[in-house]
Amino acid sequence: MTKIRETSAQTLLRVANQTGTPCYVYNETTILRQSRLVLEAFKHHPVKWLYAIKANDNPHILKLIQRAGIGFDTVSFEEVLLCQHFTDDPRQIFYTENSMSDAEMDAAIRLGVTLNIGSLKRLERFCDHPEAHECCVRINPAIGDGHHARVNTGDSESKFGIRIGQIEEAVAVAQKSGKRIIGLHAHIGSGIKEPENLIAAMKVLLELSREFPDLQFINFGGGMPTPYRSSEKPFDMARFAELAIKLFDTDLKNRPDGFHYLFEPGRWFVAEAGFLLTKVQTIKDQLETRYLGTDTGMHHLMRPIIYDAWHDVVNLSKFGEAADQLYTISGNICESGDILAFDRLLPEAEMDDILAFCDAGAYGMTMASQYNRRALPAEVLLKSDGSYQVIRPAQTAEETVAEFLAKCGFETET
Ligand code: LLP
Repeated sequence: MTKIRETSAQTLLRVANQTGTPCYVYNETTILRQSRLVLEAFKHHPVKWLYAIKANDNPHILKLIQRAGIGFDTVSFEEVLLCQHFTDDPRQIFYTENSMSDAEMDAAIRLGVTLNIGSLKRLERFCDHPEAHECCVRINPAIGDGHHARVNTGDSESKFGIRIGQIEEAVAVAQKSGKRIIGLHAHIGSGIKEPENLIAAMKVLLELSREFPDLQFINFGGGMPTPYRSSEKPFDMARFAELAIKLFDTDLKNRPDGFHYLFEPGRWFVAEAGFLLTKVQTIKDQLETRYLGTDTGMHHLMRPIIYDAWHDVVNLSKFGEAADQLYTISGNICESGDILAFDRLLPEAEMDDILAFCDAGAYGMTMASQYNRRALPAEVLLKSDGSYQVIRPAQTAEETVAEFLAKCGFETET
């Protein structure tokens, strides 16, 4: 229930009733608060913050975060094209490639975005490109972390980044072709459990940076966690800033003017701001399990299925009532594994009750699919002034099928 503090249950119920379910709802106030927190914590230092848009790329959210003074971190050419819409300065778009194609590299170079290269082979291709001049390189710091093994990116065996042992070669490749490596980057993982791991990886990068003669910035990645369970402590940004600033104060003594540091979290900005609202459509007692069947599922919120992720569930229609019934919350996808939450204590539920999955603002809608040919849900932005705006209407079932048929070359009647 504590999760609903900033966004009232009444407001969420009103949105569910007026917009319909399922829908994602994002609270602008929370996003702005998270943005202010990071900017404030480092305001006396040359630190820039980027938003990893993969967490939530609704254009209204991008606009909001950009206006708060945060840049964009992207990981695909498609994300680059999306961000291009929001900035006139392509260098402000940081593009971390991951097994990119030659065509994507060519297009990124032409656009002039800041390209972050994660393998020697790709660096060689980049250096061979006649119009390429400078880039950032992604290092594998051999320090990983993350809320689940699948999102640990800094481990020495992970697919990401250039091994420390290959750095000399990377510098040589660039120098031989007259290109400049102007940035160094690492991202150790998502939902970091031990902030000391991030600090340790930062030290590795600061140390390695001495091997790069043309460096203008170091990007330490993202991964700042969200406390999904009430037992988890929130990430202490002020404490983290204290430790980081100590490192920066020493490091900056030997840096040229304009040298700066970057961070690029995604979840930090949006996770806590978001709720997935859904309606109870069936209540079923199996032998030992009492199910609440909903009008959403793993196609809208994949995190519980692929990472065993926890999202608090609140029955908004029974808000404040005693939670004395055990329910398993299931989706409407035709798979036994489509369970969004196991064994949750909730007030006694009735058909048509509205449930909220909390902390669903990051990696919710961006990972949604049309599995079972299901329609995508609506997205709604709650404004700081109490009003709200549908920032992406729900697809109807008819639209979903008509679009699909048309894309596959089948004529449909309109
Ligand atoms: N930078 C890079 C290079 C990344 O790969 C990621 C996330 C981030 C930044 C942002 O990480 P964040 O601050 O949001 O933790 N689908 C998973 C998360 C996968 C994240 C992948 N990369 C989940 O739902 O937990």
